[in-house]
Amino acid sequence: MRAKTVSEAVESRRTVRAFLPTPVPRDTILSILDRARMAPSGCNFQPWEATILTGEPLRALQAKMLEAPMQDPVEYDVQPKAITEEYRDRLRAIGALMYGAEGVGRDDAEGRRALGRRNLISFGAPVLLLCYFPRFMGPPQWSDVGMWLQTIMLLAREEGLDTCPQEALAIHARLIKAHIGVDDTTHIFFCGLGIGFRDAETDTNRHERPRVPLERQVRLIGF
Ligand SMILES: Cc1cc2nc3c(=O)[nH]c(=O)nc-3n(C[C@H](O)[C@H](O)[C@H](O)COP(=O)(O)O)c2cc1C
Repeated sequence: MRAKTVSEAVESRRTVRAFLPTPVPRDTILSILDRARMAPSGCNFQPWEATILTGEPLRALQAKMLEAPMQDPVEYDVQPKAITEEYRDRLRAIGALMYGAEGVGRDDAEGRRALGRRNLISFGAPVLLLCYFPRFMGPPQWSDVGMWLQTIMLLAREEGLDTCPQEALAIHARLIKAHIGVDDTTHIFFCGLGIGFRDAETDTNRHERPRVPLERQVRLIGF
């Protein structure tokens, strides 16, 4: 289904963890990326940069990642070093739903490893966008890059495409940059974005995604 309104795009976007092998035309990807250039950024820096892979170059990268140990030191801390119980609970809740949809239990180490390996092959997405930017950029620019990625994710829905943002690939950031010819000294790797058509038949793409009630997140004053 193609989203026809922004609301439809927002409502139908979800992190897809099972893709069909159907290829995505180059022009569709280029059209999405071209339109996403209008995403906002502080100072109009437009700090985002990306390389997009499909076909053999993507398979070659995935084969390397599946063989490689996790890099040390890490590219960046995916989670804050100290989080409160409230945030830990949110993580546990989505983890239980996600693993539950796969039939992977809490103590199923092999099932968890298998899901980790599927993460490395972007859950079968035929296209992988690799997102990075200059190392000197700070927190405001990381946020700009997030807005660009969300713009891509919503435009993808309009094309009937789905996406999977992937911080997990940061465990192989240096390997990825070497594969695509990006200078590790000047650029930090942020995440991958798997792009393709969702497999609508599997429970993987159907589980609930809990959200915090609105009144816990925002305050309206003076209305
Ligand atoms: C920047 C970013 C990185 C993410 N990295 C991963 C990842 O590596 N693997 C994964 O399965 N999901 C990843 N996610 C998906 C989140 O788990 C997901 O957005 C969250 O649970 C809410 O679910 P939803 O996107 O389906 O609404 C990532 C999301 C974002 C925004």
